[in-house]
Amino acid sequence: MAQQVFVCNEIEMKDGDVRIVRQDRIEVGVYRHEGAFYAYRNHCLHQGGPACEGIIRGKVVDIYAEDKSFVAQTYDDSEPHIICPWHGWEYKLKTGECAPDPKLRLKRHDVVQREGGVYVVI
Ligand code: FES
Repeated sequence: MAQQVFVCNEIEMKDGDVRIVRQDRIEVGVYRHEGAFYAYRNHCLHQGGPACEGIIRGKVVDIYAEDKSFVAQTYDDSEPHIICPWHGWEYKLKTGECAPDPKLRLKRHDVVQREGGVYVVI
């Protein structure tokens, strides 16, 4: 049966922070981004690595010249990605979708805010 597991007090988590919460054998990464909370199972769909322990980085965007030749790459910070630390699979922070294959996505968990606390449903 699902339980609400305490993550932290809301004021302890600023934008860009992540907390890993454990309940029995389940680990969940809870993120705060632009004031909203997102939570995903800390289990990469590639080989089971701790996806939520990776860095957050903007989506990689290719830049092309007018003649369509490649110029450079940059990051689009408006679309943050979670990067699994084992082999670099990328997941969209706002949806949990695997960036190159949206049919794959991290298991999402609900986040509840009440009385100044942040809880994740596990
Ligand atoms: S286990 Fe995450 S990229 Fe391989």
